[in-house]
Amino acid sequence: MSGILQRYSDFLPLTASTPRLTLGEGNTPLLKLRRLGEKLGIELFVKVEGMNPTGSFKDRGMVLAVSKALEEGARAVVCASTGNTSASAAAYASAAGIPCFVLLPAGKVAMGKLAQAAVLGARVLSVRGNFDQALDLAVRASRDLGLTLVNSLNPYRLWGQRSAAWEVADELGEAPDWLAIPVGNAGNITAYFAGFVTYKNRGIIRNLPRMMGFQAEGACPLVRKETVVNPETVATAIRIGRPVSGKKASAAARITGGGFYAVTDSEILEAQRLLASSEGVFAEPASCAPVAGLIRLHREGRLPRGIRVAAVLTGNGLKDTETATRGIAEPVEIEGNWDSLKEALSWNPSV
Ligand code: F0G
Repeated sequence: MSGILQRYSDFLPLTASTPRLTLGEGNTPLLKLRRLGEKLGIELFVKVEGMNPTGSFKDRGMVLAVSKALEEGARAVVCASTGNTSASAAAYASAAGIPCFVLLPAGKVAMGKLAQAAVLGARVLSVRGNFDQALDLAVRASRDLGLTLVNSLNPYRLWGQRSAAWEVADELGEAPDWLAIPVGNAGNITAYFAGFVTYKNRGIIRNLPRMMGFQAEGACPLVRKETVVNPETVATAIRIGRPVSGKKASAAARITGGGFYAVTDSEILEAQRLLASSEGVFAEPASCAPVAGLIRLHREGRLPRGIRVAAVLTGNGLKDTETATRGIAEPVEIEGNWDSLKEALSWNPSV
């Protein structure tokens, strides 16, 4: 079994004594969505990060962060999270054999993610407050108690996450014209940018993509260019008002001629259903923000025709089935006999 530490060892800060952990992260599908692409007048690819071991892109950074923590003799790891970071931290800490503490905003984490952290053996603390407050506490715990912080303030996290940009470029043979990505704490967009820059500096690609970040309207500090004190969105993964990597992300957007855009919760949920019902891809709400954004830009005539876009679907739809099934028709109940089934299928042999 190999993962990103094996595949991209030349590009990562590994030493002879870095343990090569893996749960099989990375190497996720880059799917071409013909139907939706045609509708939008672009060549559309999606990077299905929900196929990672814990169902999100976080595994790419966590495998490196926890391996380095082991190398440096860490006692335990700690993180704040809207859910995916904690699921990933719990998994890699468990594989590494060290304790993991996670701080989650109370009542605002999808059930699948909560289940992952708990079952994977993390000590789960539910913080009465939002993600930004939980992160302040996690930083304090790492500083005052000597726990290793595995949020993206830990540089190894974003270094590992660069591997997603390398995979996109490896597969397309070039960078796409646009990289469309959901933005919460702004780490992942920063990591993709750094990944493309690394490849450009090594002469593997010629151009950088426009870095296009998408936020939820109720949690869009980078669009508004100010902190959002009480962020709110159905896409709880990106319910963040004070992004730690905001400055770097803004620079990435500026340097590449990209930008930040907001989409509404209902646009996010519509995009989720469209992706699922017309393309067979079930991604969590936050992941659907860039797709919602592309649809909106197209409607407003601001999506250039014929460009090649890679959208990052950051997390698996199964993590948050509560949100996904809201307002969806209940299954049709039938008796366990043939007549009931035939009737339900309206099957008429004479037609
Ligand atoms: N998509 C998903 C599914 C996420 O879980 C996150 C962040 C993002 C997008 C945004 O990425 O923060 O690097 O801009 N989740 C973090 C967490 C905050 O705790 O799991 P970002």
